[in-house]
Amino acid sequence: MKNKIAVITGGASGIGKSLSFRYGRAGYKVCIGDIEEPALNKTVKELQNEGISASGTVLDVSSSSSMKSFTDTVVSDFGVPGIVCLNAGVGAGGPMDTVLTEDWEWILAVNLWGVIYGVQNFLPLLKEEDEGHIVFTSSIAGHLSYPGMGPYNASKHAVLTIAETLYFELEQSDSNVGVSALCPGLVRTGILDSGRNRHEQYQVPALAQELTEDDRKELIEEVYANSLSPDIVAELVFDAVKANQFYIFTDTAHDQHMKIRHQRIEEGANPSMDGSLIDHITIGIDEQGK
Ligand SMILES: NC(=O)c1ccc[n+]([C@@H]2O[C@H](COP(=O)([O-])OP(=O)(O)OC[C@H]3O[C@@H](n4cnc5c(N)ncnc54)[C@H](O)[C@@H]3O)[C@@H](O)[C@H]2O)c1
Repeated sequence: MKNKIAVITGGASGIGKSLSFRYGRAGYKVCIGDIEEPALNKTVKELQNEGISASGTVLDVSSSSSMKSFTDTVVSDFGVPGIVCLNAGVGAGGPMDTVLTEDWEWILAVNLWGVIYGVQNFLPLLKEEDEGHIVFTSSIAGHLSYPGMGPYNASKHAVLTIAETLYFELEQSDSNVGVSALCPGLVRTGILDSGRNRHEQYQVPALAQELTEDDRKELIEEVYANSLSPDIVAELVFDAVKANQFYIFTDTAHDQHMKIRHQRIEEGANPSMDGSLIDHITIGIDEQGK
């Protein structure tokens, strides 16, 4: 990679933070864009303390103008990036008949439009260089449709098809720009507290608190019981990008469901899933205790 500059949206926490350290340790200059300023500053400091060249810019991926000025800052301060990780994302959920418009709008604004704006701004730069790699953070929820996660599933299916479409387009034009779709299972990050970054216009009325803070923490621990460390995910991404590997799965927990889904589609049969994992996965928690 000629341009050893890594751009990571949502790099202040979780998977993005681990990606920042992984690329930083490999000698890349790391440019993080994140909406949560205190976490952003803390992460940049931690990177710099390790001797990594890192910068942080406050970025709201759901805003076209914010993404444009982030891109301009990266290019003027560092140059055209070799690695672009479109990773910022949020989660919330609930059954289709109760999930609120604000939830739909917020999740699609960040998870989908954030990726669209990222592609619009960074892809032309990489194409011009005819080098580099874009990593789209989709999810296992981009392949499966677990109940209670409608907006999140919709956003991650959309991200996956954007990544696949771009892959074919770059192949058709003989471009050397690479694309990968990161499809993690459960990873121990801040995603269950996504509401901390909910925009004013997408706020919803707080529900009557059903859980005490202790019970909520216990429930979160339960959800994360079989989760992966984000550092392992970053390592998988780093190796996959080097190998120009498109799909990046992080574990095998969902293989059977994916296999059943693909088989059912081929057979023209109705969708089916084994109930046990559904119960496990649909425990969605956000700041409203939903
Ligand atoms: N944790 C999991 O189990 C899991 C599984 C599959 C996919 N993912 C995806 O991984 C990605 C990273 O999430 P994570 O799990 O590390 O969670 P996280 O909450 O630890 O990190 C997400 C980061 O995105 C930032 N962010 C949120 N809204 C933003 C906005 N509008 N503009 C810019 N930055 C914003 C947050 O401040 C945070 O730093 C997301 O796209 C998520 O959907 C996570």
